[in-house]
Amino acid sequence: MKVISTIPQLQESIRKSGLSPAGLVPTMGALHEGHISLVKLALARCPLVVVSIFVNPAQFNDTKDLQNYPRTIEEDLTLLGSVLRKEDIVFTPDEHEMYPEKDTRIFSFGNLDRVMEATHRPGHFNGVAQIVSKLINIVNADFAFFGIKDFQQLAVIKDLVKQMNSRILIVSCPIIRENDGLAMSSRNRLLEPQIRKNAPVIFQTITKAAGMIHHQDIPEIKKFVTETINNVPGFSVEYFEIADDVELIPAPTKQALIPGRKYYGCIAVKAGKIRLIDNVEMNPD
Ligand code: PAJ
Repeated sequence: MKVISTIPQLQESIRKSGLSPAGLVPTMGALHEGHISLVKLALARCPLVVVSIFVNPAQFNDTKDLQNYPRTIEEDLTLLGSVLRKEDIVFTPDEHEMYPEKDTRIFSFGNLDRVMEATHRPGHFNGVAQIVSKLINIVNADFAFFGIKDFQQLAVIKDLVKQMNSRILIVSCPIIRENDGLAMSSRNRLLEPQIRKNAPVIFQTITKAAGMIHHQDIPEIKKFVTETINNVPGFSVEYFEIADDVELIPAPTKQALIPGRKYYGCIAVKAGKIRLIDNVEMNPD
């Protein structure tokens, strides 16, 4: 693999390779098997894969979170080295390369930017849109791979590429979990040991909730999820919503579910000092 940190060198290397289709896998590093699963799906489909590693300041609404975000570039490169091929590229720009001047663009995603994550992380998706639109323009790939783990981000990005008139195809990739069910996340390594031990309660509870949708209504399910998780010391639910994967409209009751749409139970939990998100598909027959 090639490790490149400037845009001109990246574009030259892509052009020279003459390989297509090209697949883009944007990441913020601190790579784990979840990221690697995206890379593997890209490798299977694309003769040229570009993995970007950039901790994007624009998407952090909390400066402490940005400071504490794990940075493990040496391990990341070793891990990528074990899966990428000779021609594939790891793009590791610095802040000046990505933001030579302040990005003042304001995106509008309607309801997608008004619910769930958006209410708890103001400005977050605008920052994601700024960096992802830049990466899409720079790399000019045919496919980009994103995880369903970040359910709302995926919906925002699908809308972003429509707004950009981009020809890129967004590939949705399944959630990879630890053996105990906890969704893999770069932030998991920041969990205190006792909190980490109890963290599987999140997936266990939303999985139970997915079973409840067949015979109980949404307010009872929400009560069950919130109470079960809040009962674990150090855990506090920020939101749990059952939303469709197109408009992300949280359904207040089962009656409000729009026929023909796929629904997901989406959760954000403060686990000690760390914020974790997860989701499961949740469809009443
Ligand atoms: P990051 O959190 O590093 O995630 C990079 C990609 O890996 C995202 O598409 C995310 O959904 C996916 N991912 C993370 N954990 C996963 C898991 N357990 N299983 C499957 N996929 C998983 O998301 C971002 O970075 C940034 O917002 C980014 C899109 C790079 C823009 O800065």
